[in-house]
Amino acid sequence: MADADGLRQAAERKGLSFGTAVNITSFRTDPLYRRAVQRECGIVVPENEMKWEYVEPKPGQVTHLGGDEIRDAARADGQRLRGTTLVWHRGMPDWVLAKITRASGERLMRDWIGRIAGRYRGQIESWDTVNEIVDLTGGRSDGLRVTPWLAALGPGYVDLAFHTLREVDPKAAGLWNEDDVCLGADWMEARRTAVLRLLETFLARGVPIRRFGLQSHLNSLVPLDETALRRFLARLAGLGLAVEITELDIDDRAFPADVAARDRAVADLARRYLDVVLDEPAVLNVLTWDIVDMNTWLNESDRRRPDGLPQRSLPLDGAYRRKPLWSAIRDAFAGAPDHGAARARARARAA
Ligand code: XIL
Repeated sequence: MADADGLRQAAERKGLSFGTAVNITSFRTDPLYRRAVQRECGIVVPENEMKWEYVEPKPGQVTHLGGDEIRDAARADGQRLRGTTLVWHRGMPDWVLAKITRASGERLMRDWIGRIAGRYRGQIESWDTVNEIVDLTGGRSDGLRVTPWLAALGPGYVDLAFHTLREVDPKAAGLWNEDDVCLGADWMEARRTAVLRLLETFLARGVPIRRFGLQSHLNSLVPLDETALRRFLARLAGLGLAVEITELDIDDRAFPADVAARDRAVADLARRYLDVVLDEPAVLNVLTWDIVDMNTWLNESDRRRPDGLPQRSLPLDGAYRRKPLWSAIRDAFAGAPDHGAARARARARAA
């Protein structure tokens, strides 16, 4: 059960929520995992089980088992629920990719959002409605990523996704989730500029975008620029958007192999990041991309450390012990201003 000493409570004391992406295998097989998620989290999101490739790997072969299990547990444990992801260029079954055409694209998207958001209607606080839609290397002047959806429907696919969610589940906040906008490299600054320009255009034409999500895959190879980050968050808030940290973790490949030194470096980077983020009243939720080191997606092929050691990117170690990163997150919440009023405003707007 929730623990007075957990990250959930540390966040709630400031009107914020802390949570995690849930790994379905650990969730099903390891009672300690389930207990850690209960103890630390006020909000959860299935890591993969609401993505199209999991829900419908073959035409008509539909399963909602994983999503439903996580939804049921969240309900039993009094946690909020996020959904990911309605429209993405990844996480899609090949048979759908092959079917997206100018003629069929709109019907396909409406049908998918109708089914998945309809199933969880009234139960999701915010949906990752579009994910990773900016790619400045794709050659378009607006910076939109060239995807099958864009090719079939043009930039209006973004409008369609948010409007459809609004029709299907008006209570769920439509969120634009984006990667590589949180650190201090020039190429990320260019991405922030493109995001803000696109947001202005979408909002001006009435696209119901309520929130912006910074994935926040922090990286030991790229420095943090607190000033640029602060400015970006303030611009998002100035557009009337609420903000979520949706996938926080730290790729530690450039930090020392030594565990104590590495854990310290990971914790320091996260603390500096969260201190800026939590200063912005528009921020509502902070989720890590899983909660225990052994489950991090950063050990997948191309993201591994060159020395072959497993990444130490998340708040708990393999024995579910709290790491320095856990303490850094707790201390960041403890030092944060109260977000209660901003949360109440965001709720009122979504209603
Ligand atoms: C990742 C999952 O963690 C992996 O298990 C899966 O194989 C691929 O997707 N950005 C996102 C997430 O928006 O949905 C991704 O999740 C990680 C990067």
